[in-house]
Amino acid sequence: MDTMKGLKRTCMCGELREQHIDKKVTLMGWVAKARDMGGLVFVDIRDRSGISQIVFEPGNEALIEKASSLHMEYVIAVTGTVRKRSNPNCNIPTGQVEIQAEELLILNASEVPPFVITDDVKAGEDLRLKYRYLDLRRPTLVKTLEMRHKVTQIARRYFDENGFLEIETPILTKSTPEGARDYLVPSRVYPGNFFALPQSPQQYKQLLMLGGMDRYFQIAKCFRDEDLRADRQPEFTQIDLEMSFVDENDVMAINEGFLKKAFKEILDYDVALPLPRLTWQEAMDRFGSDKPDTRFGLELINMTDLFADCEFKAFSDVCKNGGSVRAINASGLMDKLTRKTLDSLVEFVKTYKAKGMAWLIIDENEIRGSISKFFSPEELNAIRERANAKAGDVILFVADKDSVVYASLGALRCEIAKKFDLIPNGLFNLLWVTDFPLFEYDEEENRYVAMHHPFTSPKDEDVEFLTTDPSKAHAKAYDIVLNGYELGGGSIRIYDPEMQAKMFEALGFTPEAAQERFGYLLNAFRYGTPPHGGLAYGLDRIVMLMAGAESIRDTIAFPKVKDSGELMIESPDVVDKKQLDELGLAIVNQVEKNKE
Ligand code: AMO
Repeated sequence: MDTMKGLKRTCMCGELREQHIDKKVTLMGWVAKARDMGGLVFVDIRDRSGISQIVFEPGNEALIEKASSLHMEYVIAVTGTVRKRSNPNCNIPTGQVEIQAEELLILNASEVPPFVITDDVKAGEDLRLKYRYLDLRRPTLVKTLEMRHKVTQIARRYFDENGFLEIETPILTKSTPEGARDYLVPSRVYPGNFFALPQSPQQYKQLLMLGGMDRYFQIAKCFRDEDLRADRQPEFTQIDLEMSFVDENDVMAINEGFLKKAFKEILDYDVALPLPRLTWQEAMDRFGSDKPDTRFGLELINMTDLFADCEFKAFSDVCKNGGSVRAINASGLMDKLTRKTLDSLVEFVKTYKAKGMAWLIIDENEIRGSISKFFSPEELNAIRERANAKAGDVILFVADKDSVVYASLGALRCEIAKKFDLIPNGLFNLLWVTDFPLFEYDEEENRYVAMHHPFTSPKDEDVEFLTTDPSKAHAKAYDIVLNGYELGGGSIRIYDPEMQAKMFEALGFTPEAAQERFGYLLNAFRYGTPPHGGLAYGLDRIVMLMAGAESIRDTIAFPKVKDSGELMIESPDVVDKKQLDELGLAIVNQVEKNKE
């Protein structure tokens, strides 16, 4: 093995262009490919910036011999002269040139890697995550992490320029009910007591406003012990911010500025401002979702009034019981929606608790389909008109309680759009969803829970509903949505202790329980709280959507997998009995169970 012997790298492997021809350069990096063509050795050298081709030509036998000994992922330093390539490779930015090697140092060897490090990697994700340090050498991951870096740098610059202070808030904090399950950290000093890792800096950032900080932001680690999905991790990062003396429009305007800047600087994409706004109700009625993907149509159509008194009991009963019948016009898809496909879509909506899906096919001369026989020609015509349907269209119906109809049709429109390639490329449809319900009813707990969090202010005109009918109250809350994903969310907060007490009461807390859990906040609110509000983005989600990644795991250097563990360092793990004793903890049966 060689040492660097004071040798300095002159440029990165991805930087070489025709303008470097005839220059002497020194590159350092990993062997991505080595081909011995019998006396002529080609080596691709890779670093974070890209790949360059090196040629070792006959003439210097010792050098050729050394080059022939190279294997994948060896770490090398090469000095040589840049020259034009006789057969350029247009697929890589350095493909017009190559380096004629004069000197080679082998700085380190590598075992044969468990998978070949290229973007069309064949290895499964589990293997790649176990060897994440190798996976990180793949150009796509490098690019995504670079993009993540850029988003945070732009955020820092933008919020700084707009008067925000970057302030850190504690990681060891206190468990609060509401929201997801907490990650707990046992206290050694107070055995039997636990810190909780923050689900978000929500309460601290509000206390910062009380502390007169005026405008705060933070790139904040958050922890939520909840089931993972492609867009959820137990440990994730927010771009979190809070502002004093503002209303909803102020918070939205400052964030629109940030989004415009980030999309322009990173993707050269022009975001038109102001962003469209939909109320929660409109989003649900038109798209069946509070995070609508507006890149394609297939909007929901309410047909409840058409079916209220119809002969078809499956529909009329739903209407009588307060539910709804809604439909999607799958326009022009008659030939694609074969019986087999329609049956598979029935199974699809059932996963969203719908009992089924009905359809009507608008053919040239007739309206046929699973439910046509239940309706008169006049009724069929009225349905066709409501759906604005023409020959070649298929109308798909779900009848159920509203929440099921929204969820199933909302998912169905996305499924159809994906299946039949109806989503235009390169569109970033950012929009605000506003006027959320303040509460949602938790059927398991049999009580109202806050839809955002318990510190969200009700709309001024809805305050009375807190004590009369919480289901009618709307919140000064807003989500920022992009292509069907919730990118971020926030609200104007309650700053009046009496209003906060009313809110806790509506959530089913006794005054004593509220005082016990949130006393520090309720007490603080008595000392001159400015009106304030804010928002938090999921950084991982922003990067996922900007990079076109499939999962937020691809935007995080060391992500967790399905069971919330990390495959590389194999966490979580058992700890010594001594550590447990210090913490006053004993494990009951669980370790044996984990081993099974
Ligand atoms: P909320 O809970 O909506 O609001 O979170 C804000 C944003 O954080 C992202 N996010 C996640 N990303 C990855 N994995 C997760 N498990 C996860 N959970 C949330 C989402 C989401 O929109 N304190 C409030 C914000 C506020 O009111 O200012 C909050 O945390 O992109």
